[in-house]
Amino acid sequence: MTAATATTVRSSGGTPGAESPVRFDNAAVKAQFPLLATTIDGAPIHYLDSANSSQKPRAVIDAMTRFTETTYAPINRSAYRLAAEATDAYERARTKVAGFVNAACADEIVFTKNATEAMNIVAQAWGRANLVGGDAVVLSHMEHHANIVPWHMLAAERGIELRWIPLTADGRLDLTDLDRLVEGAKVVSVTAMSNVLGTLTPVRELCAAAHDAGALAVVDACQYVPHNATDVQAWGADFAAFSSHKMCGPSGIGALWGRANLLEATPPFLGGGNMIADVRLDGFTPAPAPAKFEAGTPPIIEAVGFGAAVDFMTGLGMDAVRAHEIELTRYALDTLASRFGDDIVIHGPTDLDARGGVLSFAFRDLHPHDVSQVLDQHNVCIRAGHHCAKPLMKLLGVAATARASFYVYNDRDDVDALADALDGASDIFGI
Ligand SMILES: Cc1ncc(COP(=O)(O)O)c(C=O)c1O
Repeated sequence: MTAATATTVRSSGGTPGAESPVRFDNAAVKAQFPLLATTIDGAPIHYLDSANSSQKPRAVIDAMTRFTETTYAPINRSAYRLAAEATDAYERARTKVAGFVNAACADEIVFTKNATEAMNIVAQAWGRANLVGGDAVVLSHMEHHANIVPWHMLAAERGIELRWIPLTADGRLDLTDLDRLVEGAKVVSVTAMSNVLGTLTPVRELCAAAHDAGALAVVDACQYVPHNATDVQAWGADFAAFSSHKMCGPSGIGALWGRANLLEATPPFLGGGNMIADVRLDGFTPAPAPAKFEAGTPPIIEAVGFGAAVDFMTGLGMDAVRAHEIELTRYALDTLASRFGDDIVIHGPTDLDARGGVLSFAFRDLHPHDVSQVLDQHNVCIRAGHHCAKPLMKLLGVAATARASFYVYNDRDDVDALADALDGASDIFGI
């Protein structure tokens, strides 16, 4: 295992151009992930699928276990002390998540099932209340299905127009025609970081362009928040969606951040218990946000885990997280290029300032699923498929890609194992 060296990089979340010294003890971080200490067939696991879902550190596992063993009770409904303590823990988690993305207050965070549900609240609840036939929504060619399908559903119901920001040849947003695309639009909804290309998008610029055009600015922050210091207020966004399971927290919980006035003005998405101020025979009055969007029993234990994940990531320091990923991505790009040359095609920008630690690639003429299966024999876990971005696959002219993605526990050994396993794939297929 190789500990990352001290390095100086540009902070992605801070002032452009500002240099900040960051240190990251890679080996010590990795040691906090119990699953990564296990083996398959006696050999270590090289987990390179964190853009899909991340592994969980001991601190998160313990926080959830401790809460379950000592404090668990239903929240919000009962007057006994245990329930009050559980409710406090749930709300403390909300405060932590709010702080992590610099929301103006905790009530701007709605706990959802995942980022997908968060995007659906925007499209289905805000969209249904505010969009009519002929209105335009601007998306980009690099969106995840979570930021496409909810708008398609609304388009089918309402007849809204979907416009698409194209991409440059190296996988960035092509903003040449942005003014024309956003003109008269009601919503601009774009990812902050592509889960396929790793591309970091100019979120502030997009939000400003949206607002200049009188449109709502929505950010799919699902890949961005786990890897970069995030400031939703500095972005100037209106809504942002992200998931706990991609940032060392449990699955089953995500978040929608929304400006307080917008959440207040948005009707509820799901109806039921917990989301009402009053229910009568002739109707109901919704609770104020965020409870209005949290119908039914919420993911209570998971919220505590989400809060613990925020503490864990904050403890590492998000500038250090970003620095580590730049360092490892640089090493991976260099290693793969020097070992495989033209036999490997990596999609997306090569400029490290413009990308995160997600490498989608084509290897020789092997099918990505074959690559993934052979890599699995070396305990190298990558994702192969369309990555829930079929319009982007079509644009790239492929049905699928192989994708290796890095996180705080990955190190140079993982990259070397990936390269060795690719050599193994060549041997097996005789190429
Ligand atoms: C960019 C992006 N948006 C949205 C999602 C959906 O996240 P979830 O499955 O947690 O709802 C993902 C998941 O991979 C993603 O990468």
